Amino acid sequence: MRTLSDLGALQGKTVLLRADLNVPLKDGKITDDGRVRAALGTINELRESGAKIVVISHLGRPAGKVVDGLSLTPVAQRLTELLEVDVRFVADTVGQQAQEVVAELTEGDVLVLENLRFNAAETSKNAQERAEFAAQLAALANVFVLDGFGVVHREQASVTDVARLLPAAAGRLVATEVEMLKKLIDEPERPYIVVLGGSKVSDKLGVIDRLLDSVDTLLIGGGMVFTFLKAKGYDVAASLLESDQLDTVREYLSRAAEKGVEIVLPSDIVVAQRFAADSPFAVVSSAKIAESKFGDNGIGLDIGPESARDFAERIVAAKTVFWNGPMGVFEMPAFAQGTKTVAQALTKVQGVAVVGGGDSAAAVREFGFSDADFTHISTGGGASLEFLEGKKLPGLEEIA
Ligand code: 3PG
Repeated sequence: MRTLSDLGALQGKTVLLRADLNVPLKDGKITDDGRVRAALGTINELRESGAKIVVISHLGRPAGKVVDGLSLTPVAQRLTELLEVDVRFVADTVGQQAQEVVAELTEGDVLVLENLRFNAAETSKNAQERAEFAAQLAALANVFVLDGFGVVHREQASVTDVARLLPAAAGRLVATEVEMLKKLIDEPERPYIVVLGGSKVSDKLGVIDRLLDSVDTLLIGGGMVFTFLKAKGYDVAASLLESDQLDTVREYLSRAAEKGVEIVLPSDIVVAQRFAADSPFAVVSSAKIAESKFGDNGIGLDIGPESARDFAERIVAAKTVFWNGPMGVFEMPAFAQGTKTVAQALTKVQGVAVVGGGDSAAAVREFGFSDADFTHISTGGGASLEFLEGKKLPGLEEIA
């Protein structure tokens, strides 16, 4: 993979830096700035080399329209605070305004352009449309640096198309992410455990399929667990269920048994009366979710305390652990304990402990853990899963 060192001297050159600054926002405020902080290393290195830096990113999924709440303005402000330099921002991507500000940049300056996805061409399925937008982006700079690991699995104008038009390389974040995630693929030290959670099994099918060939144990929690419990014949009452995935899940369970891979499902579940932070709840055996005091209306919102302890013991005894997806609705304190216990256990692993991005990364920070408590917190949710799946990631292919 080409990295910054392969781009030669950058002094005086304009660098188009594709970061993934897609951060969670609430009332216009960033609730987890992990992705902004993860971008700092490359930005600082580029500044020190005397480059002029044009940072580009998406935020959310505005579907080609300007959406007020999805402006990158708060991100540019946060970058100003973290870099301790005046980061410029322009509410434009490739128009005249953006071109004029880019032309004014001097060595070490940092400019953030507006949300790329306000322009429909960024994510267009039409290659010609994407290529035209990419050409306009490329015209702003001399070189391209891909440092948004969270988007390397996307075939999008600012990820793949632009990399074909300029000398291109990976930034330091992408290089580190690839190095860390490779540790999980290339002969991981055993026992190797993967913990999967999150709401949907359908998002995780590819990775489960692949992991059955490499892991020793798969621990399953989160909303997706109810499809597994149902596949085992349990009544899951009103819990999240993907009925169309039951056959696939049954096939995974039998393949795991044949291969000697242990798929561990929670033995107990925190069942709530309704999906609300203040809902009454009860802990019941996984086999008896429909027999809780809420009957058929009961909704499983977290793994139970016995399961959390069991998961934690297994995690602490492992030598390699990858975790993606919360065990329950961690945003609601009553249903956060399973996720918290798993996070805590990862901090005690005597080996490699990697947190996949997205919600799991947000959860560990919300619980007050620091990045240093883990071997690595990935900034890519979908990207890290696809990497583990062994897929070719389009962004990485362009800078191979
Ligand atoms: C993410 O949050 O995983 C990345 O920023 C990619 O976002 P996307 O799934 O909207 O492409």
